[in-house]
Amino acid sequence: VTSDAEAALRESWDANAAAWTDAVRAGAIASRRAGTDAAVLDAAGAQGSGRVLDVGCGEGWLARALAARGHDVVGIDGSRALVEEAARSGGAHFLHLTYDELIADPASAGGPFDTIVCNFALLGDPLAPLLSALRTAARGTLVVQTVHPLTAGEPYADGWRTESFDAFGTGTWQPMPWYFRTFSGWHAEIARSGWRIDELREPRDPQTGRPLSLLFICR
Ligand SMILES: C[S@@+](CC[C@H](N)C(=O)[O-])C[C@H]1O[C@@H](n2cnc3c(N)ncnc32)[C@H](O)[C@@H]1O
Repeated sequence: VTSDAEAALRESWDANAAAWTDAVRAGAIASRRAGTDAAVLDAAGAQGSGRVLDVGCGEGWLARALAARGHDVVGIDGSRALVEEAARSGGAHFLHLTYDELIADPASAGGPFDTIVCNFALLGDPLAPLLSALRTAARGTLVVQTVHPLTAGEPYADGWRTESFDAFGTGTWQPMPWYFRTFSGWHAEIARSGWRIDELREPRDPQTGRPLSLLFICR
């Protein structure tokens, strides 16, 4: 599933690994403080203790937080620099694995998993091949937290965009291509992969009342 945009998307995470790690660990991303961290922990941690796969784990904060709550967690990511950051901090088991590699061999992450979580980590197109591969690795729930379609500006149409990270404050950032999805776009990709949406959550900013994210719980 490798397009030019997809390759540039993956590549950006090696270029941005240090700035991203600093931003996450300093709590510099306002929406995360306002509720998206709590929302994904609540959804992914809800299944009692069990095996969790954190897909696109980045520097590993979520994997560590779930492991600290008693889960047995594997984090995978296609950015070697971020997986190295994650492994340095420990707390869970981390593997360098791209989504294409996981699609080619769904057993490579070491399933089956009771919960699979993708926190702002489904940024490419198409998603159905990856989501289908994750079904093979699953024996439970899929939790996906993503950009809320109402918060991403115009046009309201599925398509590639560019994130400049201007809102992320300090640090040097390489722009990242990412694929914006409407509600119907998300529904179509998830349905095509065989997962069934069980619950849709829209965590809101308690201060402004605006949506912070869109969170799917699938079985
Ligand atoms: C916005 S970060 C989110 C990181 C983490 N889930 C978190 O909540 O902090 C997106 C992550 O997805 C990973 N990623 C994006 N496309 C990927 C691909 N094709 N294969 C593997 N990892 C990918 C990136 O390397 C990056 O770590």
